[in-house]
Amino acid sequence: MEKVVAMFFMLSISLAYLAIGNAQPTFDVGKFGAVGDGKTNDSPVMGKILAPSANARRNSTSLDCWLCFKRVDGLIVDGPGQIDGNGETWWTKVPKNERPTALHFHLCNNLILSGLTHLNSQKNHITIHSCSGVSISNLHIIAPSDSPNTDGIDISLSTQLLISNTFIGTGDDCIAIKGGTSNINITRVTCGPGHGISIGSLGEDGSNQIVEQVYVTGCTFNGSDNGARIKTTPGGTGFARGVSFEGITLIASGNPIVIDQHYCNGRDHHCQDQEKAVAISGVTFSGFQGTSAVVEAINLDCSKQGCRGITINNVNISSSVGQDLRAVCNNAHGTTASTVPVVSCLLS
Ligand SMILES: *[C@@H]1O[C@H](CO)[C@@H](O)[C@H](O)[C@H]1NC(C)=O
Ligand SMILES: *[C@@H]1O[C@H](CO)[C@@H](O)[C@H](O)[C@H]1NC(C)=O
Ligand SMILES: *[C@@H]1O[C@H](CO)[C@@H](O)[C@H](O)[C@H]1NC(C)=O
Ligand SMILES: *[C@@H]1O[C@H](CO)[C@@H](O)[C@H](O)[C@H]1NC(C)=O
Repeated sequence: MEKVVAMFFMLSISLAYLAIGNAQPTFDVGKFGAVGDGKTNDSPVMGKILAPSANARRNSTSLDCWLCFKRVDGLIVDGPGQIDGNGETWWTKVPKNERPTALHFHLCNNLILSGLTHLNSQKNHITIHSCSGVSISNLHIIAPSDSPNTDGIDISLSTQLLISNTFIGTGDDCIAIKGGTSNINITRVTCGPGHGISIGSLGEDGSNQIVEQVYVTGCTFNGSDNGARIKTTPGGTGFARGVSFEGITLIASGNPIVIDQHYCNGRDHHCQDQEKAVAISGVTFSGFQGTSAVVEAINLDCSKQGCRGITINNVNISSSVGQDLRAVCNNAHGTTASTVPVVSCLLS
């Protein structure tokens, strides 16, 4: 494989002035000293890439991303260094759909992303869209717990991803796994603050979406609003199947284990069943240990069509504030063993 080394910090000065707009400036990295012969390390200078403030942005009708990579195969984006979205200047002033993702990869196969610190993104910190073969490791992704829509890593229409040894503490999902994804491994990720590692929401606006083969192992949820979560919106089709969360440490985690098939963003977060639903099957929660900040530590709220093949075992969750915990289910079919709190609500 021909490797392309991202000339990242060579770009730091010029990108600091990069404004966002319809006519995005293009920088020739060669003019900034990069060699690009596949051998030379073009990133000797450590640095920080700082986004323009919301006031300095150009007005435009669509802006998906601040730093955008499209159709670059074999790209390596390696630290050290910081990517600072300057989000503090955007969050309260600019609506969600006018704020860009800080770092966006579209159609980038065999991508390696490692070692950087990502701060205060305008919206998502990192979006992976339509990529195959992605390795993400040793990142620090940090934004305040009350910063809006600052997902750590969003993944859609992608396959073969490994995310490892990464810290994510933000104001929204630590990792969001959206439609069209398969073969995603997440290991040794610490999440919190944040909304947990979420699959979904799937099926929004009646869409057909699929997610399969997701393995989350050896992760920690520390003070996050949710832990392991699958959320779908009534009226959609498709499936989430072959998902496992194993060997999870909880530190005062909100909603440690949650399936929510009545998820409606922006509409009170709860809506009624419809004739159609995204099908959830083959989901395992195993080896959870630690503390929950909420009473309903296990909450499996399936659609009227039901979730099938739910396995919950070797779970030992106690309360972070001395309460009695419980598990609640709605139309959830599956089996359980060695679990505290006891899950007596699963259907066979
Ligand atoms: C963008 O539009 C707003 C509202 O129309 C205006 O106040 C602002 O000055 C414009 N910003 C730039 C950089 O042109
Ligand atoms: C994910 O883990 C499974 C099981 O260990 C392995 O077969 C698969 O190749 C891994 N996939 C990636 C993308 O790391
Ligand atoms: C959990 O988060 C708190 C607050 O951010 C932090 O002080 C603590 O060190 C974290 N614990 C672990 C084990 O990461
Ligand atoms: C559950 O965890 C608590 C606190 O960590 C521990 O004291 C207890 O022995 C564990 N119970 C089981 C059955 O493992």
